[in-house]
Amino acid sequence: MKKKIATLAGDGIGPEVMQQALRVLDAVAARFNHQFEYLSAVVGGSAYEKFNSHCPEETLQVCKKADAILFGSVGGPANEQHLPKWKNCEAASILQLRKQFAFNINIRPIHIFPSLTSISPLKNELIDKGVDILIFRELCGDIYFGKHEMIEENKLRTAKDEAVYNEEQIHCIAIAAFEAAKLRGKKVVSVDKANVLATSKLWREIVVEIAKQYPEIELSHMLVDNCAMQLVLNPMQFDVILTANLFGDILSDLAAALTGSVGLTASASLNAQGFGLYEPSGGSAPDIAGKNIANPVAQILSAALLLHHSFGMVAEAQAIQDAVKQTLQAGIFTKDLVRGNQSAVSTIEFTHHIIKLV
Ligand code: IPM
Ligand code: MG
Repeated sequence: MKKKIATLAGDGIGPEVMQQALRVLDAVAARFNHQFEYLSAVVGGSAYEKFNSHCPEETLQVCKKADAILFGSVGGPANEQHLPKWKNCEAASILQLRKQFAFNINIRPIHIFPSLTSISPLKNELIDKGVDILIFRELCGDIYFGKHEMIEENKLRTAKDEAVYNEEQIHCIAIAAFEAAKLRGKKVVSVDKANVLATSKLWREIVVEIAKQYPEIELSHMLVDNCAMQLVLNPMQFDVILTANLFGDILSDLAAALTGSVGLTASASLNAQGFGLYEPSGGSAPDIAGKNIANPVAQILSAALLLHHSFGMVAEAQAIQDAVKQTLQAGIFTKDLVRGNQSAVSTIEFTHHIIKLV
């Protein structure tokens, strides 16, 4: 197959981990006889430097020409947030792309690798039977895309953020979650705050309606505060988690932390037409950028998700996932995964091991 991939490496560790993902994709292309053409474009602070915009029109045009988007990470150091280059950088780049392409479905797989249970912050007995959760987060609605305002009310500085959901948005993400559950543990936990929020009441109503089409799936509802607690107390109970934009943002970070390193989790954002953007769940980690120590796993697994969801290359995606698993099983770790007196390999060397196994 011949495919075009837009590569938006971004800031911080983005460019170096992107480079590793492309090395892995090249190895897959050689083994499975595909041709991948990479269309590189700027985003985030690096785009601002060149175009005075975090998500310039030039970049959107490149994305439109591609069959899928592989995204790195954006954002700058905490002590430089006041600079125009970094001010509002994340929202202006990634939220812009989500809105532009209507990426309503966000999938965040949370997997604790058996070889890495010792670096999970959880006790071993809580995860020993394996943690394998798929989080489905709605990505284009909720409080993220409602009206945001800072006003003066009764002589007090006041801020308002509007949360909006329509039934179509909920329907779309719920169907995606139920379809995925059919192919795995057949359990969906829908997470909301229906004891308080109108958006959550509608959420629950729609999810219950859709569940009727899926009698083989066991649906349960969980309030978001309880879900945060359950993820820590008993993460093995979860199969598919279905939730709204803001809750999904928070719960997916919590769940990613359970794996032991934010450098391990990838994500896919899809629209109704099946066009997708793939990115690591973690941030740009400017403090370790350019040192050849960053963990490339999240970016490499994002490339695997891209092959699977955008190109239907299931065996190719599996080959990457297996290579990552085997590399970790062999005790080959980047710095973030090392504990005690174990030694770490560099970003480039780690990828080299994966490539040998692809
Ligand atoms: C994420 C990020 C973004 C979000 C930020 C950078 C706007 O935290 O993808 O989870 O909140 O969605
Ligand atoms: Mg987040």
